[in-house]
Amino acid sequence: MDFFIDTAHIEEIREAKAMGILDGVTTNPSLIAKTGKPFRTVIEEICGEVDGPVSVEVVSTETRGMVKEAKELVRISENIVVKIPITPDGLKALKALSQEGIQTNCTLIFSPIQALLAAKAGATYASPFVGRLDDISQDGMALVEQVLQIYDQYEMETRVIVASVRNPTHVLRAALMGADVVTVPFQVLRQLAQHPLTDIGLKKFLDDWAKVPSS
Ligand code: G3P
Repeated sequence: MDFFIDTAHIEEIREAKAMGILDGVTTNPSLIAKTGKPFRTVIEEICGEVDGPVSVEVVSTETRGMVKEAKELVRISENIVVKIPITPDGLKALKALSQEGIQTNCTLIFSPIQALLAAKAGATYASPFVGRLDDISQDGMALVEQVLQIYDQYEMETRVIVASVRNPTHVLRAALMGADVVTVPFQVLRQLAQHPLTDIGLKKFLDDWAKVPSS
């Protein structure tokens, strides 16, 4: 399973990269806004740091604008994957971009049929949002399970990115289901490496080590 980080903060991206587990980055307009920096500066900084795919979202809502933005975005760096929302216009943009060989990530997916449509339109990646479904008392990971089943059944090549991840359990369930990618906020990424028994065990080792005579 590939690990992407879901952030636009360059410090968090550098830290994740240093941890040796970073395969790519996903951003969205809200995450870009949180940096307080101009859009292009943020994207150039990220693409200069990361070798893998960097998802960057369009803000147009009609096909022509989405396609125009996508073509401008991929000129910034060859690792840019254009994030397109799953709407009727988005589907048309996905189709046009896939025919031009531009990589896409179909975003804001909340139903398995939306994911099926995204794959049929030629999306490179599809992003079901699990946390936002959990927030309204639905099981977000059940959606991922259904999407994986459909893609597997019809041998679709679109890769599933588990997005809107809120906790390590989402990551565990994604791995057990065989999801292609999980995109994780920095805070959850740090949690993944932690366990209370690891902390207790390490403290005990160091306390005991302090009792070892120096000579
Ligand atoms: O980047 C898309 C997605 O991961 C957003 O997550 O936490 O805003 O629901 P969230």
